[in-house]
Amino acid sequence: MGLDHTLDEQEPQHQRRIRYKGTHPKNFKEKYKELHPEQYADDVAKIIQKGNTPAGMHISICVKEILKFLQITPGQTGLDATLGYGGHTLEMLKCLDSKGHLYSIDVDPIELPRTKDRLERLGYGSEILEIKQMNFSQIDQVASEPGSFNFVLADLGVSSMQIDNPERGFSFKAEGLLDLRLNPQKGESAASRLKEMTLDDLQDMLIEYADEPHSRPIARAIISNIKKGIDIATTTQLRNIIEDALKSIPQITEDEIKKSCQRSFQALRIDINNELDVLDEFLEKLPDVLAKGGRVAILSFHSGEDRRVKKSFKHFFREGVYREIAPDPIRPSAEECHVNSRARSAKLRWAIKA
Ligand SMILES: C[S@@+](CC[C@H](N)C(=O)[O-])C[C@H]1O[C@@H](n2cnc3c(N)ncnc32)[C@H](O)[C@@H]1O
Repeated sequence: MGLDHTLDEQEPQHQRRIRYKGTHPKNFKEKYKELHPEQYADDVAKIIQKGNTPAGMHISICVKEILKFLQITPGQTGLDATLGYGGHTLEMLKCLDSKGHLYSIDVDPIELPRTKDRLERLGYGSEILEIKQMNFSQIDQVASEPGSFNFVLADLGVSSMQIDNPERGFSFKAEGLLDLRLNPQKGESAASRLKEMTLDDLQDMLIEYADEPHSRPIARAIISNIKKGIDIATTTQLRNIIEDALKSIPQITEDEIKKSCQRSFQALRIDINNELDVLDEFLEKLPDVLAKGGRVAILSFHSGEDRRVKKSFKHFFREGVYREIAPDPIRPSAEECHVNSRARSAKLRWAIKA
C-alpha cells in the first residue's frame, strides 16, 4: 500500500468554530485555522509559499538530506526520537512502504495526541507505527521491544506549534504564563525556577545555553525584581524586565534587544528541560540501540547541541563503535532557508554503527 499523503491533505471535519468578536480571531483559542491547519490546505499552502510557517504546524527541516543518508528500506525498524508534528515520521513511513516498523516518541503530552491522530487518519496505525510519550534519554527502553534499530533520527529543540502556542510560554512575542516546559505535567515551570536561581546561576545559564552577550545586566535585573518580591509569572513580564535592563546600554538597537530576549528565553528553555543532559544520555545510549550498520542522523539548532553531537560521534568513531561519521555538518540549502527561516541555524550530523 503506497500511502502518498502529506499531513495537511486531510478531509475537513465538521467541527464548530469558536466564536470571536470582530473580523479576525484575536486570541490563540479563537484561531481555528492555527489549531486545525490540516483543514485549511489552501491557506496553509499560501503561507508556506510566502516563506512563513503556518501557525499550528511545523515544516520539517532537511528532509531530503536525512532520507538520502538514512537509506530506509521496506522491512526495517526505525526510531524517530522527536515526533513533533510528524513530518519526518511521515516521510520515513513512506520509505517503509507498509513493511517494517517505526517507533516515534516525544516528551510533549499536548502535541503528541494531535500528531498521533493526524497520522492515524492517514492510515498509519499501530501495525506500522508505535507512538509513545517518552524522553529520548530513555531510548534503551524503547529499544527493548524491537532489540535494535536500523535507523534513528533526532530533530532537536522545539516545534513551531510549541513556540506558537502562547499558553506554553516559549515565546517572548506573545503574552502567556512563563512555563517553557516541553512536558508541562512534570518538573517546575520557568517562573518557579527563576525564584531559586542566584545571580551567578542566571548569568552562567545565559552564557552557557545562549552565548548571551548582555548576561550580567539581564541576570541582575531579574534578581533585583525577584528580591523586590515581584513574581515574574508571565512572558511579557520577563520580556519587559530584559528590555528595561538593556535600554540604558549606549547605542544598543531595538534589534539587539529583541535578540537578547530571544536568547534569554532559549537559555531558560534549555535549563528548564535539562536539554543538554538528556542529549548526553541519548548520545551515550545510541550505539547500544543501533543494529550493525544502523544509521543515525541528528539535527541540532545551536552550538551547545552540535558540539555534544560532534564530540560523541568522534569519541565512538575513535573507539571503533561507529564505522563512519559525518566529516562536517550538512547545512540546509539556501533554497530551504529561504522558504523556511527556521532552518537557518540547523546542522545535520550522522554516524553509521560498525
Ligand atoms: C523540532 S521538533 C521535531 C519536529 C519533527 N521532526 C517534525 O518533522 O514535525 C522537536 C520535538 O522534539 C521534542 N523533544 C525535545 N526534547 C525531547 C526529548 N528529550 N525527548 C523526546 N522528545 C523531545 C519536542 O517536544 C518537539 O516536539
